[in-house]
Amino acid sequence: MGTGSKTTEKAANPAPVSLEVRLGGIVLRNPVLAASGTYGYGAEYHDFVDNETIGGFVTKSVTPRPRRGNPHPRVAETPSGMLNSIGLENAGIDEFLAHDWPDVLEEPCVPILSIAAGTVDEYVEMCVKVERAGGVRAIEVNLSCPNVKEGGRTFGADPAAVEAIMRGCKNVTGAFLIAKLTPNADTVAIAQGAEAGGADGLSLINTLLGLGVDVERRKPLLAMGMGGLSGPAVKPVALAATYQVCRVTTLPVIGIGGIATWKDAAEFLVVGATAVQVGTALFANPRAMNEIIEGLTDYCVRHGYDSVTDMIGTLERGDLIEEGVAG
Ligand SMILES: Cc1cc2nc3c(=O)[nH]c(=O)nc-3n(C[C@H](O)[C@H](O)[C@H](O)COP(=O)(O)O)c2cc1C
Repeated sequence: MGTGSKTTEKAANPAPVSLEVRLGGIVLRNPVLAASGTYGYGAEYHDFVDNETIGGFVTKSVTPRPRRGNPHPRVAETPSGMLNSIGLENAGIDEFLAHDWPDVLEEPCVPILSIAAGTVDEYVEMCVKVERAGGVRAIEVNLSCPNVKEGGRTFGADPAAVEAIMRGCKNVTGAFLIAKLTPNADTVAIAQGAEAGGADGLSLINTLLGLGVDVERRKPLLAMGMGGLSGPAVKPVALAATYQVCRVTTLPVIGIGGIATWKDAAEFLVVGATAVQVGTALFANPRAMNEIIEGLTDYCVRHGYDSVTDMIGTLERGDLIEEGVAG
């Protein structure tokens, strides 16, 4: 913690910087991943992003059965963010494994499969199917989508249920198992539940519960009423959650929420995240991940870090931050 920069010694002849980070036995070429639900199954961005340049991506969440998603409008702009209630539209795990999975596995970075379900047994059953299909290296368990009535919101707020899901999944898969946490709950307690159940890593945050209103029509902006808030507006919430969770766990944490620039990403790493995911920013700037990777490299050079891992958890006086102080 707080070793300070080594700018002066290294500035004259900067050594090549390693951006590699590890999630258990998985090596990511850099700590920048695309977030679930914003990058499809990886191929959707081929015109904009060379997947050989990024650390990896998380697939949009796959569910036990096909889902048509929620009625439109499903997205709405808000100041510094967006609301969505997509409703986990997807073809279901069987169709996904038969038609999309082989292509996902061909992508030249680390694909992480996101799963969402309504019962513990369904989560476990999906892991069994994925194991049978083969090739899976990492699974992100979506515990927290606030848009789907029967799809995980209750689990994500209940540490015991999260523990049961992670334990059940761990028993049937050898994949690196990541619990994706909701900010609409006691994130620290949920993180501890996930770790107790055998999670190998934690990612946070999913979207924050939000509501937008059209006053002329006196109706919610989204057809479903409430939605999930994402984008720059949520970054301080995500940073606080990352900070708090990193203090209580030794598991690798993947920071998510409002990351659009290298500085945003650097903030999460300094606070303790091992990697980051970029979501909403990709809609406005599909090149955001590449810009972040370049910016992180420059930052490491300027600060004399040989490896991006040198900057993880280096927040000065982080131990003195008081929690819950506002106003
Ligand atoms: C349109 C949209 C769809 C999303 N779909 C999923 C999803 O299928 N599964 C999931 O775990 N998170 C999903 N998310 C949440 C993101 O992965 C991410 O956790 C959240 O948006 C915060 O990051 P951001 O501010 O960088 O977007 C979705 C977000 C958006 C904006």
